[in-house]
Amino acid sequence: MKTKNAQPAAKRSLGRKKKDIETTPGLLRLSPEKAAFDVGKIRKDFPILSQKVHGKPLVYLDNAATTQKPVAVLQALDRYYRETNSNIHRGLHLLSEKATEAYEGSRLKVQKFLNAADPREILFTRGATEGVNLVAQAWGRQNVKAGDEVLVTHMEHHSNIVPWQMLCEEKGATLKVVPINDAGELLLDELQRLLSSRTRILAVTQVSNALGTVNPIAEIIKMAHAKGAKVLVDGAQAVPHLAVDVQQMDCDFYVFSGHKIYGPTGIGVLYGKYRLLEEMPPYQGGGDMIASVTFEKTLYKKPPHKFEAGTPHIAGVIGLGAALDYVSECGLGAIAAHEQDLLAYGTRKLLGIPGLNLVGTSVHKAGVLSFTLGEIHPHDIGTILDRQGVAIRAGHHCAQPVMERFRIPATARASLGLYNTRDEIDVLAKAIRKVLEVFG
Ligand code: ALA
Repeated sequence: MKTKNAQPAAKRSLGRKKKDIETTPGLLRLSPEKAAFDVGKIRKDFPILSQKVHGKPLVYLDNAATTQKPVAVLQALDRYYRETNSNIHRGLHLLSEKATEAYEGSRLKVQKFLNAADPREILFTRGATEGVNLVAQAWGRQNVKAGDEVLVTHMEHHSNIVPWQMLCEEKGATLKVVPINDAGELLLDELQRLLSSRTRILAVTQVSNALGTVNPIAEIIKMAHAKGAKVLVDGAQAVPHLAVDVQQMDCDFYVFSGHKIYGPTGIGVLYGKYRLLEEMPPYQGGGDMIASVTFEKTLYKKPPHKFEAGTPHIAGVIGLGAALDYVSECGLGAIAAHEQDLLAYGTRKLLGIPGLNLVGTSVHKAGVLSFTLGEIHPHDIGTILDRQGVAIRAGHHCAQPVMERFRIPATARASLGLYNTRDEIDVLAKAIRKVLEVFG
């Protein structure tokens, strides 16, 4: 997957200088929404944040890996198991009715959250990864043939590469890759060049987990549709940071995970346009997805139930509904303004550290600060930061092609959430300077 744009780390510039960041309109300005955002109050909603690790106050900056859960989500899970636990869509008794109502109520919340046209377009999955696999298998096997092409980008998470690779191998189709530039931005003219009448689907992330890049998703979708290709958007890193409107962006499929948006693990969402879902075969067979079964023939239910075989993660769905309520109450506009302020502040702070190289310097970014520090291995950075109470992720972030593109084995990555503060960024910067002291 080498591209001609790859450059040795030593030759790479930071892409975006401190001066540019300070003069980029909108990045440092405090919006009215930001001014109204009470992060102190929000932090009280997350009990886990008040603990100490290694005797230091926890500074949790690993939100792209998973987010912490507010009391509202913990209570929804607890209440479900204490008061309502029962199987859904099956029982005639009151508890089952209540559980079904709560489960289907969450579907309506997701529909509203994504602004989908119809609740039947919302499927519950185990996470974004399962959503991609479902589309690659159910839609892909039916629609991708030998000689066809599937397009992904160089900034995708493995979960939006490997399922397509598996499909292409099975079908004799070709996987093509849209390259990125040194700032970690998609090369749209290359995308235009790679799109052809052979392209069946483009699988693209809205926000890169390793770089933070926010892609111009509506424009990308328009380009793909003009060539007759379908588009699947990986929204795992987008939904906690940006308001998403699937009708406006006009994607064919959209996936995200509950645990990255302050909800439980093991639950996710696949949005699909109803007509496409209706034409797709089921992904898995089992209980609750059938209209009737005989040994000769089984008839399936309509979407979404056709794709929800077996007892689902009922508590997870209810917890996700509570998480979406929580985020909506905070307001995605206010969250975005708060996080953009932190991102600009953090970028400025980190660029002031000698030898620190930011990887991912797109003009449009969500709350990710991925970096290298001279020759110090990111795992050493992560370990030293941990001793100071600062939780970050170090590694390839399940995006090995991104690391290969920048010719580095790994980065250290601080990723922001709605409860982070400027003070925590100060602790991060101080902890990174400590790393430099240790490695003298
Ligand atoms: N995809 C998650 C991350 O970026 C696990 O850390």
